Amino acid sequence: MEKLTAAITAVGGYVPEYRLTNKILETMVDTNDEWIKSRTGIDERRILKGEGLGSSDLGVGAVNDLLKKRGIAPEEIDCLICATVTPDMLFPATANIICDKVGIKNVLSFDVNAACSGFLFALTTGAAFIESGRYKKVIIVGADKMSSIVDYTDRTTCVIFGDGAGAVLLEASTDDTGIKDSLLKSDGSGRNFLHQKAGGSVKPASVETVLAKEHFVYQEGQSVFKFAVKGMADVSYELMERNNLTGEDIAWLVPHQANLRIIDATANRANIPKEKVMINIEKYGNTTAGTIPLCLWEWESKLKKGDNLILAAFGGGFTWGATWVKWAYDTK
Ligand code: UT7
Repeated sequence: MEKLTAAITAVGGYVPEYRLTNKILETMVDTNDEWIKSRTGIDERRILKGEGLGSSDLGVGAVNDLLKKRGIAPEEIDCLICATVTPDMLFPATANIICDKVGIKNVLSFDVNAACSGFLFALTTGAAFIESGRYKKVIIVGADKMSSIVDYTDRTTCVIFGDGAGAVLLEASTDDTGIKDSLLKSDGSGRNFLHQKAGGSVKPASVETVLAKEHFVYQEGQSVFKFAVKGMADVSYELMERNNLTGEDIAWLVPHQANLRIIDATANRANIPKEKVMINIEKYGNTTAGTIPLCLWEWESKLKKGDNLILAAFGGGFTWGATWVKWAYDTK
């Protein structure tokens, strides 16, 4: 039997209107534009405002954009996977809610929780469904309303995160293009460096957990930084090496947007010059599962069929990984 490869055949994205700039943050916490810009590369981030709106609404924006661009109806989709750490609620899955809001009915849908690496974990899972021949059109969403778990009195985290979502469509490739290889890793022993302390089964929500601010992102920034710099750079290098790829073979590095210094380190290790690195952290900050598909969404018109892309991420868990994609289409 012919081996099937999954290809990305459409991209969608959505960011909310409201821009939380560094200048506005200066009025909220003891920080300044110079510190934020030089330590992270961020100028502003988008925030989803409005009662009753959650990550699913960001995801819906991205999925509708994708369906419209590809010219297909919701009924044609047979699987949707959503990567998120800010689900609308603990259960049911945000993927199910996105499907319901978009009009995708009676399909396989579920969430993947791998923090900032979530999009790559979901993408690799979805690709395996296509490769098996069992599913024909699989949507992968990365959506996070990080503002729902950020403490806007904590200057060490509130300057970093933003809200946004991206989505890609996977279909079987008919040529040499598609998702060629993935290297994904997790190490649960790193869980305490970046997590949300309460709200799960170990520490359910209570008056005490709310007063102790344990429903917000907790991060030991410097420690995570050290692991992230090494993890993301090493895994990208390892993936390229095992596929005999050098920096010259790569058209684009698509890194998770957590910190410009981590992105630079990954690009240097993979020997990929800055002009071939997708960077939009200045506009959106760290949207967790949204960063990589939002880069693809913004750069889509520049991508050419056959381009080699290295997607790379590092996140809470710890989780990290890299994926080699041979781009499948030219945008008209
Ligand atoms: O996406 C998932 C994975 N996450 C990451 O990859 C994030 C990794 N970590 C980072 O990107 C960086 O560690 C941060 C951006 C979070 C922090 O940058 P840093 O260069 O590691 O700063 P730091 O934590 O070492 O803090 C340096 C100083 C401290 O002051 P003192 O102790 O030297 O007086 C902080 O209190 O900067 C201070 N500081 C701030 N100052 C102004 C921390 N946050 C701020 C702030 N504004 N927002």
